[in-house]
Amino acid sequence: MAIDEKQAAKRIEQLRHEIRRHDRLYYDEAAPIISDREYDRLYKELIDLETQFPDLVRPDSPTQRVGGKPLQAFEQVSHLIPMLSLDNTYSEDEVKNFYARIRRLLPNEKIAVVIEPKVDGVAVSLIYQSGKLRQAATRGDGNVGDNITQNIRTIRSVPERLRDMAPKLLEVRGEVYMDRQGFEKLNEERKKQGLPLFANPRNAAAGSLKQLDPKIVAKRPLGVVFYGTGAIEGVDVDLHSEVFSLLKKLGLPVTERWWVAKSVEEILDAIHELDGIRHKFAYQTDGAVLKVDAFEQRERLGFTAKSPRWAIAYKYEAERVETRLLNIVIQVGRTGILTPVAVLEPVLVSGSTVGRATLHNEDEIKRKDIRIGDTVVIEKAGEVIPAVVAVVKSKRPRDAKPFDFSEHLHGKCPVCGERVRRDPQFVAWRCENIQCPAQTTRRVEFFAARGALDIESVGGIVADKLVERGLVREPLDLFELKSEQLAKLNLGTQDAPRVFGEKNAKKAIQAIKRARTLPLSRWLFALAIPDVGKTTATQLARFHDNIDEVAHSQLLRDVLDYHEKREHKQDAKEIAERLIKAGFAKQSKSKAEKKHGIVTEVGPAVAQSVLDFFASAIGRKILQRLKQLGITPKSERASVKKAAELPLAGKTFVLTGVLPSMTREEATQKIEALGGRVSSSVSKKTDYVLAGAQPGSKFDKAKQLGIRIFDEAEFRKMLAR
Ligand code: IVH
Repeated sequence: MAIDEKQAAKRIEQLRHEIRRHDRLYYDEAAPIISDREYDRLYKELIDLETQFPDLVRPDSPTQRVGGKPLQAFEQVSHLIPMLSLDNTYSEDEVKNFYARIRRLLPNEKIAVVIEPKVDGVAVSLIYQSGKLRQAATRGDGNVGDNITQNIRTIRSVPERLRDMAPKLLEVRGEVYMDRQGFEKLNEERKKQGLPLFANPRNAAAGSLKQLDPKIVAKRPLGVVFYGTGAIEGVDVDLHSEVFSLLKKLGLPVTERWWVAKSVEEILDAIHELDGIRHKFAYQTDGAVLKVDAFEQRERLGFTAKSPRWAIAYKYEAERVETRLLNIVIQVGRTGILTPVAVLEPVLVSGSTVGRATLHNEDEIKRKDIRIGDTVVIEKAGEVIPAVVAVVKSKRPRDAKPFDFSEHLHGKCPVCGERVRRDPQFVAWRCENIQCPAQTTRRVEFFAARGALDIESVGGIVADKLVERGLVREPLDLFELKSEQLAKLNLGTQDAPRVFGEKNAKKAIQAIKRARTLPLSRWLFALAIPDVGKTTATQLARFHDNIDEVAHSQLLRDVLDYHEKREHKQDAKEIAERLIKAGFAKQSKSKAEKKHGIVTEVGPAVAQSVLDFFASAIGRKILQRLKQLGITPKSERASVKKAAELPLAGKTFVLTGVLPSMTREEATQKIEALGGRVSSSVSKKTDYVLAGAQPGSKFDKAKQLGIRIFDEAEFRKMLAR
């Protein structure tokens, strides 16, 4: 039956209204009144109508939760109020100290404290204007985050509109998480497809929110819990404990349990009670957050350099469980290091099943006297790989077998059979054959991992099989793979084959192609140069145009030279000047340094390591290969401006008092990055004083001298200009 646009518009509105109502019943109230099938029918009717009348599609339609168009990159947005972090405590004594401290700061007052779960997810801020979701952002550096509105819209428990009497402006803050079941299912699917697995639900949630394509995000089982507000207008709340009911009333998901305590004893009771039930929550928790309930008291308590004085996080101890050690196997890592791994009787720890745990190295096995057959205690803390922490000696069976690492090895790598060596300086054994398939696999995996070249389709199993089938002997071989070869790749066994498939192969080849022009810093990181982590890779990329330049870097040679010659003042001075002029070094502020003392962007050990790597046979081969393959990473060289051209050049700042949202180090960095100088005392030469709460005598002196004084807000404005 044909339907005209006017009728369609009316029906579409009805359907959206209905669907929103059922979403609410399902997600907030856990009390659905229709079956999934009926829900799907409503949903499908809406999709059909919107397909027929695309002009009637609105961004807030429930159908848009499945995701709009992919973005090129996330837009950066400033938070209305900085997103701070919390101080962590690990013992009950520290909790007592916290309460004693706030009692001291607010003498003779009753202080109520709210205790709530510390959700182990990804921090987000959502802005609702007059009840409509306008923006969602990640925490980022606390001041500026990624605009992830499209992605947040795909989470079905996030209301697009708030229920009744929505305030004019409401910023809510909380954590996005992936529930355990969803996490395990996702990893299972990824395993089947040969994709790298997520280490834990938090990483999975973070990885999902980082997707530029909201359609992918829509398929991930994400949820959110809100724990507080940021900027608000048009509502009056005096107590944090009232915020929970307010948010709930507006249709925003909040934690199911929180406590209000009025004494240390009550606080500790709440912490214990939470510990007893937190594993039943859908989201992972790693602690309790304690917050002063009354906003008025919070205001008087204020902030330290980086966190509020009115709140603290108490971290629970990592969960430990006992299980049996069935066997010990040896794993070969990316750099050839041999790690003993415990094969365990699978057990549930902190919500996921653990079947393997690291034993670190030979000495650890001896020190803890770990034997095969033993009952062991394993621990999993946050992202850390589970580890065997102790043996339960009382449960040792008679036939428990000691494990002699060296004897087990017989001097040979368990994977390639080549010689292994134990460097007397290090505790680890190492396979010295850089063509060892295990090493190659790990290197390929590392090369393709997130943060490196981000070739999503090439994870553990795929890397494994590529090396096993001889298609890849070193990471750069990936660039010569043909789509047909990949499509045919058998990820299963001969008896139970499971091919990679054409679609996956195409995707992989595209990602590999894209990797050719990724920024230089990613390439430097991906090459796994010893001592070069992400930070160093970024620093190097700022000062060099391409890999060749890094390989023969005059700057790095100067760093080495400088450290060698620092005793010979004249020579060292010349090099120091050259490095400073290039922007690769700064005058050292420490008085202990000689007059020409400098601090270089990277230290001599790193400089040596980088130059050595590229001078080695492997390094030279990599350079040659990159040239042959025509790979040209994108240059990120900052136009290192001459200091004198920078906007704050020649200006001297003095800092005093506590700034609301940045530490002094951060403020100093910001000033120096723009060419300014920070001095420790006020004099006639001081241009500006940046003052925070409780400024010291410098403030008075600046006033006397008529020096311009400003606060953090004005400072931020100045930086923005
Ligand atoms: S309150 C200034 N409450 O923990 C107070 N934070 O270090 C700011 N978090 O990244 C946060 N659960 O995202 C607060 N119930 C809770 C929380 C919580 C998790 C996260 C938060 C932040 C970190 C604080």
